[in-house]
Parts: sequence; C-alpha cells; structure tokens
Amino acid sequence: MQVDVELYLGDARYGLNKIAGDTIDLIVTSPPYADQRKNTYGGIAPDKYVEWFLPISQELLRVLKPTGTFILNIKERVVKGERSTYVMELILEMRKQGWLWTEEFIWHKKNCYPGKWPNRFRDAWERLLQFNKTKQFTMYQEAVMVPMGDWSKTRLKTLSDTDKIRDTSKVGSGFGKNISNWIGRDMAYPTNVLHLATECGNKNHSAAFPEELPTWFIKLFTKEYDTVMDPFMGSGTTLYAANKLKRNAVGIEIIPDYYNAVKEAFKTTDLYLFEKESEYDTAINQ
Ligand SMILES: C[S@@+](CC[C@H](N)C(=O)[O-])C[C@H]1O[C@@H](n2cnc3c(N)ncnc32)[C@H](O)[C@@H]1O
Repeated sequence: MQVDVELYLGDARYGLNKIAGDTIDLIVTSPPYADQRKNTYGGIAPDKYVEWFLPISQELLRVLKPTGTFILNIKERVVKGERSTYVMELILEMRKQGWLWTEEFIWHKKNCYPGKWPNRFRDAWERLLQFNKTKQFTMYQEAVMVPMGDWSKTRLKTLSDTDKIRDTSKVGSGFGKNISNWIGRDMAYPTNVLHLATECGNKNHSAAFPEELPTWFIKLFTKEYDTVMDPFMGSGTTLYAANKLKRNAVGIEIIPDYYNAVKEAFKTTDLYLFEKESEYDTAINQ
C-alpha cells in the first residue's frame, strides 16, 4: 500500500475547509509566532493572535479524528520586559472551543547560542502544547521508549528497599512510578521534555523543525497509513517525517516558494502525489 502526499497552496484559514471532517490522525505544526518574521510571512500582533488563530483551530477541531491529537509548537516572546500572555489566552479560548488541553511537552533547544540580557537568561525552550478532542486519544507509548542506560544497572540496583517502593502510583497498569519495577529493564518511557537541537542546516526555511521533532510525535500518536497534517508546513519537515514512516501526509503553505519546493521534492521520488492548487490569490487578498 502506498502513502499519499496532499499539498495545498494558500491560507490555512481557507485551505482547511477543503479537508473532510474526522479524517486526520495527527496535526503537528508551528504557526507564525506573534510579532515574528514580519518580513517573510506577516507577523500577527500579540493582541490579535487569538482572534487570528481561533478560526483555524476551529477547522483543526473539525478535521481531526475523535482519537487524534494536535501538537502546537509555539512560544511567547518577551516584549518590553514582559512575557506576552497570548499563548495562555489561546489555550483558554481553545478549551472554550471544545479542545481538551491534555499535555504540554517542552522542547529544550540543546544548541541554543549564548547571549546576555539585562534581566533574564537566554531562551532555550519552546512549548509543544497537546490538544485532543476526547480523553480516549490513541497513543503508542512503546514506540518512543528510550534505553535505560547505566541508570538501571547502577543507581536502581543500589536503592534501599524504601526508596524502591516509595513512588508507587496507580498510573495505568500500576507500573507507574514504582522504581523497583524498572530494575533489570533495558528500556524506559521518556519524559515530556524533548532535548533536540534546532535545525541549522535547512537551506529553504529559517524556522524549520528538526526532523526528529515531528518524527517523535508521529511515532507516539500514529501507526502506518494513518494521516498526519501540518497546516503551516513551511519547508515540509512534518511531511517528510510522516512519509518516511509510511504515514499519509497533508500540508498547507501560504508562500509559493516554500510550497513549490516541497512539491518538487516529493515529485522526485516514486511517491504518489495528490495535489490540489487552492485559491491562493483570493485567499490571501481577503
Ligand atoms: C514556523 S514556519 C513552519 C516551519 C516548518 N515547521 C518547517 O519545518 O519548515 C510557519 C510557516 O507557516 C506559513 N504560513 C504563515 N501564515 C500562513 C497561513 N495563514 N496559512 C498557511 N501557511 C502560513 C509560513 O509561510 C511559514 O512557512
């Protein structure tokens, strides 16, 4: 069975209404952050951001399957010495729309370059907000297990009996935090912090994901032949990751150069390309 790549050129606000409801298993995306990259793709003012994003999140809610997951990469800036609050306001408004805010992962940007500010330290992390339609969302936790490493062989073995059982919790199967359950095991579940370097080598896009980022969420929340969407696909990292893992991919992008680069890249492979040109001109002029 082959996987599809479906690309739309245009504004996500309009492109999304071409997609049938309850068809997407996972959305992983990084929309433009407020007040950033004005010269390339706009830069929505922080106080207009929620108003701008809500029609999009309404459409995302419609297209996502009840078992699906939406991962939103976003981070508020410091403006005149204060953090913006638009991300928090957005979370509250999206909950009113019907989204459940189920988790927040942290992307620790391991290769953040040094800097000096008078009243804070360098920003080295971004939010990866998880939203769902229901609490019964699909999750394949075993797909992202990590090696225990020396930790299980050394530290766990030397724990006292009290230490081994003191974190017992009733999570899931009861395995939970009971440390003694992990002795002798090779693999453990990861935490909700992802330590990934930012993408420096991408020729086409200044804000591209490292491919490991969408890859991790695709493994965690989907299986082969499921459908993954990025409505702000940029250089298409989410789509490449999905495609490599044999997931169908749907992407929307407003800038023709980015869109065309992704289109070209997929054409050079043997993959089936299902392409629909959107009403780009009308959409962006509205
Ligand atoms: C932060 S970048 C995404 C980068 C992407 N994750 C990658 O790995 O390359 C946001 C992208 O959204 C696109 N964009 C901005 N406004 C849009 C809109 N209204 N509809 C669709 N795409 C939009 C921008 O052109 C930009 O490429």
